[in-house]
Amino acid sequence: MAIAVYPGSFDPMTYGHLDIIRRAAPLTDQLVVGVLINRKKQPLFTTEERVEFLRKATEDLPNVSIMAFDGLAIDFADQCNAAYIIRGVRFISDFDNELSMAQTNSRLNDKVDTIFFPADPEYANVSSSVVKEIAAYGGNVSQFVPPFVGEKLQEKVRNKGESRNE
Ligand code: PNS
Repeated sequence: MAIAVYPGSFDPMTYGHLDIIRRAAPLTDQLVVGVLINRKKQPLFTTEERVEFLRKATEDLPNVSIMAFDGLAIDFADQCNAAYIIRGVRFISDFDNELSMAQTNSRLNDKVDTIFFPADPEYANVSSSVVKEIAAYGGNVSQFVPPFVGEKLQEKVRNKGESRNE
C-alpha cells in the first residue's frame, strides 16, 4: 500500500495547495496531508481551523486524509508509514529551500523520498502569506482560496484590526 504525506503550515490552505493535493492523490493509495502545529510561528488560524479547511476542500477525494502533526516532517512521514513526501515548488527560491529540506530529510531517514510538483503557473504566485496580506488590506482573495476560507479570513483580519484599534 503506497502512502505519501504532504506536510505544510496551510495557514490558510490556498487553491495552490489544493492543486498539489489533487495532482498527487491519484499517484498513491493514500495521501495524508500533514498540518504542522507550528509552535515557533503564531499561525493566524488554529490547527483545528487549518485541518477543517482542508477536510472540507478534499471531501470528494476518498484517498486523502488530513492530520495535524508536531515535530519533524520526516518523523511524521515515518509515523504514517509513508514512502514519499510531496512538496510543491513555485519558483527557483522555493526549489532552493525545498531541495535543501529534501536532502536533509533523506539523511534523517533514507526510506522516505521527496517528490516535487511544479506549481501550475496559475498558482505560482499564490502563497498563504500573500493571501493574508491581501485580506489584511481589505483586498479580494476569492481567486486564491475557497469561499469558506475567504469568509473566515475576512473575519479574522477584521477582529485583528478591531483589537489593534482598541
Ligand atoms: O507550508 P510550509 O510553511 O511551506 O511548510 C513547511 C514545512 C512544514 C514542510 C516545514 O517547515 C517542515 O517540514 N517543518 C517541520 C519541521 C521540519 O521537519 N524541519 C526540518 C526540515 S528539513
